[in-house]
Parts: sequence; C-alpha cells; structure tokens
Amino acid sequence: MNLPSRRILAVISVTALVASACSSSSTPAPAGSSGASSAAGVTNIEVVSWWTTGGEASGFNAIIDKFNQDNPTLKVTNSAIAGGAGSNAQAALQNRVLNGNPPDSFQVHMGHELLDTYVTPGYMDNLDDLYAANGWTTQFPQGVLNIVSAKDSAGTLHYYSVPLDIHRANVLWYNKTVFTANNLTPPTTWDQFFTAADALKAKGITPLAVGDNGIWATGMILESILISTLGADGYNGLWTGSTDWTSSKVTDALNLYAKVLTYTNTDHSSLTWDQAADYLIPASAGAQPKAAMTLMGDWAAGEFDNKGFADYGWIAAPGTDKIYDTLADSFGLPSKAVNKAGVKMFLTLLGSAAGQDIFNPYKGSIPANTTAGNPPASAKQYSPYQKWAMGEWKADAIVPSLEHGAAASPKWKGAWETAVTSFVANPNVATLQAALVQACKDAGVCK
Ligand code: GAL
Repeated sequence: MNLPSRRILAVISVTALVASACSSSSTPAPAGSSGASSAAGVTNIEVVSWWTTGGEASGFNAIIDKFNQDNPTLKVTNSAIAGGAGSNAQAALQNRVLNGNPPDSFQVHMGHELLDTYVTPGYMDNLDDLYAANGWTTQFPQGVLNIVSAKDSAGTLHYYSVPLDIHRANVLWYNKTVFTANNLTPPTTWDQFFTAADALKAKGITPLAVGDNGIWATGMILESILISTLGADGYNGLWTGSTDWTSSKVTDALNLYAKVLTYTNTDHSSLTWDQAADYLIPASAGAQPKAAMTLMGDWAAGEFDNKGFADYGWIAAPGTDKIYDTLADSFGLPSKAVNKAGVKMFLTLLGSAAGQDIFNPYKGSIPANTTAGNPPASAKQYSPYQKWAMGEWKADAIVPSLEHGAAASPKWKGAWETAVTSFVANPNVATLQAALVQACKDAGVCK
C-alpha cells in the first residue's frame, strides 16, 4: 500500500516547513540516570508513553510483554504519564530531554512534534541502520517516511523514529441503539447533525459528549469543522500560509464551532476524553446512555472494544467524508539514552509487521507498516472499524492533525490551544479569529 502521489504531496507540502535545517546524529551518550540495571542480569529499558487507558494501555502492554518474554535479559517498563494526547507527558518529556536525562525511548507524534522539538535541535540519534536492516524504507508509506526523516547539513536524509500506528482524528462515534430508537441517521453534514442533536436534546440525551479537561479534545472538534468548511486543500493551506485565516470561511467555521459546543455535556471540562466516550455506554443493559455521539480520534474504538461495548457506530465527522485527518505515534532513540542496543531491539519489534499486528488491533489504529494487517489466527484481530479505516486510508485525501503534532509547530499548537481555551470559557468568534490570525503570524507562516 503506497500512498498515491497526490496524497503524499498534501503531507509534504505541510511538512516542508520543517525539512530544512536538521541535526547530525549519533552523539556518543554519556551515562545518564535512566536505563539502569534492575534485577540481577536484567537491564531495564525505560519507555515513556501517555497510554494509560482502554485499548491504549492494553495494546502497549501486549507488545511490551511480547518483547520481555522474547528477551529475558531485557525489561521494557512503561513509565506512562496519564493525560490524553500527551497533554501532561509532552512537557515532562521535553524537560527530561533538555536536561540530558531522557528515558531510553518515548512516544512522539510524527511530523512537527518529532522534528521541531527533538530532531532539529539535535537530541535524537538517527535510526538509518534499523531502516536499512528491516527494509522499512519500502514498508512504510512515503508520506510517513517524509515526516520521520530530515536532512543533515550535507543534504543526507536520516530517519529518526519508528512509526507504530496511524490514527484518524475526524471520526464521529454514536450509540447505534439510540439512533435507531429515535429514527435518526448518522449525520453526514453539520445541518443534519443539528437536526439529530435537537431531536436528542428533546429526549433528554446529551447529543455530543466532550471531555476537554485536556483542551485538545475540543480543539479536535474545531479541527474537523475547519476541514469540513475549507476542504482538504483549504485546511492544508492554513498551515502553509496559502489559506487566509482572516477569511469569511474561517469565520463561518468558528460560528459553526460555537454552535456545536452548545450541544455538549455541561461537565465537559471535568472529564477526560475516555470518560466522555464512556457516556455513550449505558450504565446497564437497556438503560439510556448519557450521550449519543462523541467526536474523537479512533483510539475511541480501542476504548469501546476494551470495555466490551459493541453497540457503537462510526462515520466521518460531518462534512469530512473521504478526508483522513491523520496522526501517528512513533518511538525514537534519544542521543543520551543509556541502553541503546536494547532500545534498538525494542524499536525493531515496534516497526515490524508482527509487532504492529500485536499492538494495533487493541488500539483502534491501523498499522503504519504496509506489510502488516494479518495477525495470526490465534491473536486479537482487527475490528470492523479498523477494516473500514484501512480502506479509507488507501482512498482518502490525507491531511495532518494540528492537535496531534503533525500540522504545525508545537509553539503554534500552544497558541491555538490558548485561544480555544478562552473561547470555550467565553465564546467570542471575533476574538478567537484574531488570536488564530496572530498565531499564524507568530509562527512565521502568515504575514
Ligand atoms: C493521541 C495519540 C493516540 C492516543 C490519543 C489519546 O495524541 O496519538 O495514540 O493515545 O492521543 O490519548
């Protein structure tokens, strides 16, 4: 499965921003404090992720267990830091890396988050040897390779992290029984969404569950609305400077966002993303769930599956059919990691078809390695949602997620989140638009 070139271009055009100045690699590592030996004869490999719930934790534990069983002298431990989308982990990781005390490996989104934060400033070793040894330059799609790699000052391309999954951010999940019982069809446009939402409200069901105690969860709703209002090219242009943030279409999107937020649960700011997703699950068989829909990335499928909840349906977020709002998790090798040989063995499993087919069936994501997708019959299989997503991934226009590190620099994402936080507390469209215009200027992309 190679990405068609038009889709590669969409990804490249947005990520070209980061393709310039890049570091050299392989700085010798002084001893640090992580990766120390644990039990006699067993070397600890400390890995940090933010996967603590549902399918996230189950999938990562499954692949770690496999590695530890196969390598009795090594022990990978997951020092997970709770907080969806890395809302707590990312700051902690940056501190550790900057202070020269990184974990042996850590979860990082491909694209700007990886390249701007860690690769360009020279904190990571390259993984060219692993890519060559495992044939990954032909096994990962070109659009993925583009955003885990960078050129050094001599113009030589190097690979800096190993992609483990591909996620879709723009999915609307719904409780099937609630929809059927109320004669509703899943909305493909925002107008249809409002019609369904009014009917649900009248029945005392919260239309849209949101858990934005990490603001990214509501930022993702805005991301989907911008995609639906501007289309794939228009949305991509927001991050390259070719779409005008002052335009009336952006204003339309922000007005739509304000309206959508009036259909959410009142306790949204105290909930995590997974607590909100759980609002679609009835407390007992036959009971009415607290909410009918949630707009969330497809780790929600992992959450539902993990909880044994099968009564969920899905559809592209309204107005975004055939557009795949993409993000991907990867793991790299910090230059100051202690046990580099052990990390490389772990990364080899993460990138392999076998490893990806252990992890992804739990996670809701699809494998990044194009030779994966066929777990052994005895193992956990891909869900109906994931089989659908695999087909969409091949056919859709690909756009990068802002909230999950792909579309823009972490600094720009931070300014966006500050603006969205104010908006959720005090929904003023003009103020939000002015802040987003300024954020693009501050990122050096808009004039
Ligand atoms: C994303 C991450 C996913 C999932 C989600 C919720 O940023 O890429 O793997 O973990 O956050 O935590």
